[in-house]
Amino acid sequence: MPDVYPTIVQVINVIKCYLTRFICGLFRPVALKASRVNSKSERSWVSSLTNKRILLGVTGSIAAYKSAELVRRLSDAGATVQVVMTDAAQAFVTPFTLQTLSGRAVHTALMDAEAEATMGHIEQARWADLIVVAPASANFIAKLAAGRSDDLLSALCLASQAPLAVAPAMNQQMWLNEATQANVASLASRGVKLFGPAAGEQACGEVGPGRMLEPAQIVEMSAALFETGQLAGRRVLITAGPTQEDIDPVRYLSNRSSGKMGFALAAAAVEAGAQVTLISGPVALPTPERVTRIDVRSAEDMLAAVQSNLDGQEIVIAAAAVADYRPLQVATQKIKKQAGSAQLSLEQTPDILEAIAADKGGLFVVGFAAETEHLEENARLKLEKKSLDMIAANRVGSAQGGFDNDENALKVLWPTGGAALPMQPKEKLARALIEMIAERFDAKNPTKNS
Ligand code: C5P
Repeated sequence: MPDVYPTIVQVINVIKCYLTRFICGLFRPVALKASRVNSKSERSWVSSLTNKRILLGVTGSIAAYKSAELVRRLSDAGATVQVVMTDAAQAFVTPFTLQTLSGRAVHTALMDAEAEATMGHIEQARWADLIVVAPASANFIAKLAAGRSDDLLSALCLASQAPLAVAPAMNQQMWLNEATQANVASLASRGVKLFGPAAGEQACGEVGPGRMLEPAQIVEMSAALFETGQLAGRRVLITAGPTQEDIDPVRYLSNRSSGKMGFALAAAAVEAGAQVTLISGPVALPTPERVTRIDVRSAEDMLAAVQSNLDGQEIVIAAAAVADYRPLQVATQKIKKQAGSAQLSLEQTPDILEAIAADKGGLFVVGFAAETEHLEENARLKLEKKSLDMIAANRVGSAQGGFDNDENALKVLWPTGGAALPMQPKEKLARALIEMIAERFDAKNPTKNS
């Protein structure tokens, strides 16, 4: 009998294994859904993580060891990663490891006076472009479903407007449990994205659904969330930056535009599925991925570049701060210093936006208005005078927002209405403005969209 006993145990284990595989098969849709999203995301969308702020929540699961690779891969894709760990997560991986890989102090506690002094938890919630909880334990998923906020990570999830994705990781019975399935269904109905889980062999020796997706899959699925498709197939021309109007061979007239808003719009339009041509004045910014960039210096150059690239465009966004005036004469030699004051005679530059809008046909034309006073009235006058489809007005000349700042707020107006976009990083603001442009474009072109 003692010799037979191990064999019986082995046979029982094999039967158990086949039974669990069979049960996994019944729950295939969950795993399949994950792999379908993954194959769609295999179109190398990872570039849309460039400059994205990802808040990575790590909860208590053995899969937490994979978080280290996830942090590295997200950072390699250009994202800034802020790790937040629950107490249970720290039993599997140390904050120090994730801090070293992310280059940012890991946050762990809700009532942490030091962390609150540098970046409060509400500020962290606002900071994120996306929250990814990977691994998400059964307990944490239950907390999210119940809307609890008794630890830092759950409080951040509750306080943030950013999209939220969870990558479940747990024992297959815990995943299959009705309670977990009900929690997951409740999260999905509230728009929480589910990354996985995968099915297969588990750390506990069982086989079934509940394995966390691989870090590479989570990175691709995160990137795909920024690919909204709102401007899929559209051709968009954007002007950005300042112009430089020569006075003599070494001097010019210009302004303090950094080009950040126009470049952020180009990146957001590409992520929304558009084919983007960016015509930029002199700026110190890298070209966003998948954008065709044409560099110019003066208003005259910008007009010529716009006109020769206008054919086939469907949307024009004039975010450039084009100089309104240029010297009447450009001196061929450096102007010498003379006693007393000097005078410069100026003439107006061509108004590029007005020229396009005057003959726009079906083109959807968006202008910007930089104002120091009477923001809305001045912007509405410009919208009408230049026959625009939309104008985005921002206050300039103050410490916050406007030119050469990383943040801005916009008052967006169109002929029949308007909306306000609050102060936020220019990348986020650009995504919100692109969404509005897509909506107004579709409203103007109902047939193009059907
Ligand atoms: O009239 P104002 O200069 O305030 O209009 C601003 C808008 O017009 C912006 O969209 C800017 O890009 C565009 N503009 C232009 N050409 C100019 C002056 C402004 O396209 N010469």
